[in-house]
Amino acid sequence: MTDQDQQVMKSIAIVTIAIALLGVIAFFIAQNVSESSSKKQQKSARAEQALQARIEPVGKVSVGAKMAAGAAKAARSGQEVVQASCGGCHVAGVAGAPKIGSKGDWESRMQAGMEGMMTAVIEGKGIMPPRGGGDFTDEELEAAIKDMLANSGM
Ligand code: HEC
Repeated sequence: MTDQDQQVMKSIAIVTIAIALLGVIAFFIAQNVSESSSKKQQKSARAEQALQARIEPVGKVSVGAKMAAGAAKAARSGQEVVQASCGGCHVAGVAGAPKIGSKGDWESRMQAGMEGMMTAVIEGKGIMPPRGGGDFTDEELEAAIKDMLANSGM
């Protein structure tokens, strides 16, 4: 090898090492970037979950209403309807609501018959909101009235 050859070899070696070093640096930079972007992704996934949780009740209600309208969902039992809504007033007899368990309260209401009571519930009466404040079908409302009557010794 001539001196010149050695000089060339040296240059080649330096360039090779420099490229290798650059590669290592690039590798670390790339890793850092991808790490922080995956953190960002996690963050936005969490944000989306939070958003979903916030809009969920609205979505559920509208789906529930649609299902009730299409009667695609199995009817809730009278007991379920009472627990979900009616009981809020009719357990304690809020604002003059006929009380569950009080036969006397219901006897006077029964004079209007099931049809009369259904009309009152469907349209609302006193502080009772229409349909007892829920998205219940007629069938479910009637079952709820029957459940309250049964639990009032009627
Ligand atoms: C916000 C309170 C409230 C809720 C919820 C409620 N009710 Fe009532 N309900 C009342 C009150 C108050 C009355 C008495 C109204 C009056 O006579 O002025 C009443 C009366 C009734 C009557 C007697 C109506 C008549 O013919 O005089 C029936 C039957 C009845 N409710 C059924 C239901 C059913 C079924 C539900 C659930 C789907 C329900 N209520 C939910 C407050 C409520």
